[in-house]
Amino acid sequence: MANRRVFSGIQPTADSFHLGNYLGAVKQWVDLQETRDTIYCVVDMHAVTVPYDPELLRRRTRVAAAQLLAAGLDPERTILFVQSQVPEHAELNWVLGCLTGFGEASRMTQFKDKSAKGGADQASVGLFTYPILQAADILLYKTNEVPVGEDQRQHLELSRNLAQRFNHRFGETFVIPDAYILPAVAKITDLQDPTSKMSKSSSAPQGIIDLLDEPGVIRRKIARAVTDAEGSVRADDAAKPGVTNLLRIFAALSGQPVAILEATYAGSGYGTFKKDLAEVVVDAFAPIRERTAKYLAELDVLDAVLLDGARRARIVARETMSEVRDRCGFPAAS
Ligand code: TYM
Repeated sequence: MANRRVFSGIQPTADSFHLGNYLGAVKQWVDLQETRDTIYCVVDMHAVTVPYDPELLRRRTRVAAAQLLAAGLDPERTILFVQSQVPEHAELNWVLGCLTGFGEASRMTQFKDKSAKGGADQASVGLFTYPILQAADILLYKTNEVPVGEDQRQHLELSRNLAQRFNHRFGETFVIPDAYILPAVAKITDLQDPTSKMSKSSSAPQGIIDLLDEPGVIRRKIARAVTDAEGSVRADDAAKPGVTNLLRIFAALSGQPVAILEATYAGSGYGTFKKDLAEVVVDAFAPIRERTAKYLAELDVLDAVLLDGARRARIVARETMSEVRDRCGFPAAS
């Protein structure tokens, strides 16, 4: 039997991914290459739902791809591509949009949050229909599992509903995708505001550790991370959100369970714990940072890897779209 198909995407909306992106998604993407048939995408079309600068987008798309390769995605085993290079995403987006209720789209909390910030009148229709394009990304590849953080759960639910609705109306076509969410790392929180998600759009720089941060910056941010006055290293989400977040990060990067870390640092206060954590993060991120710079120094090679990824993705995407066209009553495309 063929391996289960995994698909996921990440937006090129910052100069670096952050620790939440890495632990909640990218690390799983790398690990899943061992056992699954993996397809990953830099979703540049999702990045144009808010005002943006084309040159900056072009650069960030490459920086995103370089970081993914540097983190361990292997183009021999994985299809890595840029969304806009596979036009079938936009094509399926239209078909799925026509199956989505206006009220259903209005309930998406990410749209509500993002549009509330700038005022609903400022929000684009693209921002409103963003989760439908995400469903198209996933369904085009007949995906079984989608590795993401907790914040994507509602979008995943919409993808499942749209797949079921299409299949019901037009005949079995799409696989119903499952979310692949690891609870321990599904919501890494802001170092300065540990009850909020670490987020490129809403966290202050001190609250975020970037994958491409210099070691000195990482050490400083961890040293200043908000904890509590109790002074004991133990996990307790409600009473000690800051320390619990740091423990989760430590456990995920070191492979040591939280209980072992609690025992190791019992009675030692936060200073030693934070110093050791900083070294664990630096050891994990410094090689990725160095490799990212190497990929970015050879843009021709990077662009060729992405173009080849798009070519391979398109073979799958075209096949799905020709089934979709047929089921929908559209004539076959040339
Ligand atoms: P994006 O680009 O905002 O985030 C990329 C991935 O990082 C995860 N993530 C986190 N995980 C844990 N803790 C955090 N603090 C944290 N912050 C971010 C996100 O859950 C995500 O997995 N809509 C998607 C992109 C997308 C997509 C797709 C994902 C487009 N098409 C198809 C899966 C499948 C997004 O904005 O992710």
